Amino acid sequence: MEAQDHRPLKYPHHWRERRKQKIPISIITCYDAAMAKLAAASGVDAVLVGDTLGMTVQGRRSTLPVTVDQIIYHSAMVRRGAPELFVIADMPFGSYQTGTRKGVSNAVRILQESEASAIKLEGAAKQTLRVVERCIITGIPVIGHIGLTPQSFLTLGGYRVQGRSAEERSRLVEEARALQSAGAFALVLELIARDAAREITEALDIPTIGIGAGPHCSGQVLVLQDMLALDPDFHTRHSRRYLEAGALIQDALRRYADEVRTGQFPGTENSFQ
Ligand code: KIV
Repeated sequence: MEAQDHRPLKYPHHWRERRKQKIPISIITCYDAAMAKLAAASGVDAVLVGDTLGMTVQGRRSTLPVTVDQIIYHSAMVRRGAPELFVIADMPFGSYQTGTRKGVSNAVRILQESEASAIKLEGAAKQTLRVVERCIITGIPVIGHIGLTPQSFLTLGGYRVQGRSAEERSRLVEEARALQSAGAFALVLELIARDAAREITEALDIPTIGIGAGPHCSGQVLVLQDMLALDPDFHTRHSRRYLEAGALIQDALRRYADEVRTGQFPGTENSFQ
């Protein structure tokens, strides 16, 4: 199947247009300027500076330790690497769940200091919906995120697929509708049974972006490190390994170390008179 022509996603209304045109949206996570530059040149529609950076970049065991300052630091780098690309910055754990004012002022800081295009936050609790509404009034575009919401993995009982029972499915549909009504312009569906993801997508006008949520979403998002297999030992069913980058990088480093030890590097062409 050939990719269709499409207009870049610059503003939230372009995302709705895309959904209407039924042209799937492609997003990857991104945490620095060099990768952002490659992402922009590749034609992906948007990049997400996810709080997954806690695991992929910082080597943490969950996303919980990530701070607002760190999201700003990485989002600003991504913006510098990709000045024209749609950059979504994640609101980290604790930055919006404990108060509307605090949530909105953190969202303002993130946008002001990183020049991201939108923020993303997890869940559909009343408090979160209030933050979404106030952000929209303030002029901050918001993407919601339901299903497996990693910031709540302790209360959710781990990283398990959501929406397998009829009860869970109707709760997810309700949450999705509530986020759309609050003003979210798109919704990430993470680790949701594919039929439930289809039902959620059909219940909404805004696009759904799946990760481990099957083929019936309006678009997909993947974690860059997973799709590049940067950690060769990490396997996840919902992703696809588009490159064995971890193995390739290890091999290049091994050759470099060997060549230094055997005196093959540097050569004359690598040195100056
Ligand atoms: O933090 C993140 O990278 C995310 C994606 C997994 C959707 O939220």
